[in-house]
Amino acid sequence: MNIVVITGASSGMGREFAMQLDRGLHSVDEFWLIARRGSRLKEIASGMQHTVKILPLDLTNEADMTVLTESLAEEKPVVRMLINCAGYGMMGDFTAVPIKEQTGEVDLNCRALLEVTYGCLPYMRAKSRIIQLASSAAFLPQPGFSVYAATKSFVLSFSKALRAELKERQIYVTAVCPGPVKTEFFEVAEHYASTLAMKQYTMVEADRVVKDALRASSKNRPMSVCSLPIQAFWAMTRLLPQDPVICLVQKMREKGTEVIEEEKESE
Ligand SMILES: NC(=O)c1ccc[n+]([C@@H]2O[C@H](COP(=O)([O-])OP(=O)(O)OC[C@H]3O[C@@H](n4cnc5c(N)ncnc54)[C@H](OP(=O)(O)O)[C@@H]3O)[C@@H](O)[C@H]2O)c1
Repeated sequence: MNIVVITGASSGMGREFAMQLDRGLHSVDEFWLIARRGSRLKEIASGMQHTVKILPLDLTNEADMTVLTESLAEEKPVVRMLINCAGYGMMGDFTAVPIKEQTGEVDLNCRALLEVTYGCLPYMRAKSRIIQLASSAAFLPQPGFSVYAATKSFVLSFSKALRAELKERQIYVTAVCPGPVKTEFFEVAEHYASTLAMKQYTMVEADRVVKDALRASSKNRPMSVCSLPIQAFWAMTRLLPQDPVICLVQKMREKGTEVIEEEKESE
């Protein structure tokens, strides 16, 4: 049995990967959709043509992670594709966001991603593909989003190294590094602080990011960086020395906070 495993499938890009692959991928037998909200997964599955196995799991919970590894051991499928989308970030100064929320980011974005990848790899074959959701936040340390950016740097670094390790097995790894994407992500991320106003000008739709990511993966590219402004940002972070750019980001943040406070006062 050939399967596609998608974490974070209950919304945003995970959901979009499921929908696009359901329409375009005819050589798989089953989709395994993972997220905490089982009801959402059921709703998504009801609109899909493929058979779907719903795994309502909290990937930061050890017992839940075992459910996935045991399901793989029982059914021994061929994992044709693994897409790790589950993740979240919390904006705000490091000292202003509860530590549990921030260690939770490390737990989900890094540890769970490693465990799912490690668990699926024995079931992957030549031409199987792995797509890891990193972010443009991986390109540069980000004051005000420090832990999230660090977790995404981890994902990008890990993906590139894993790609090299798996080359001989012909398992292809692609890291996806979008800028802001219109999903539920910001409902969580902006709980304690809000983003730079610039977000509005670079925000893209999830379907576009996913289309680009699937194209990059099918061409066995190491990375997918959707949209021109984010490609320019990527080039800038590679060309310019990091420290002045970090200072500039912090200055823009302070300016943004001033504007928000002025707007609040005038209301
Ligand atoms: N949106 C952006 O601007 C953006 C930009 C760059 C990269 N990314 C990355 O892209 C990925 C997908 O984000 P998105 O924008 O699609 O956000 P989203 O709509 O909020 O999706 C996040 C997904 O993660 C799942 N999830 C959260 N905690 C979980 C847990 N403990 N166990 C299992 N699943 C969990 C959520 O489902 P449940 O709540 O049902 O568990 C949801 O399906 C994330 O890794 C994010 O960091 C997002």
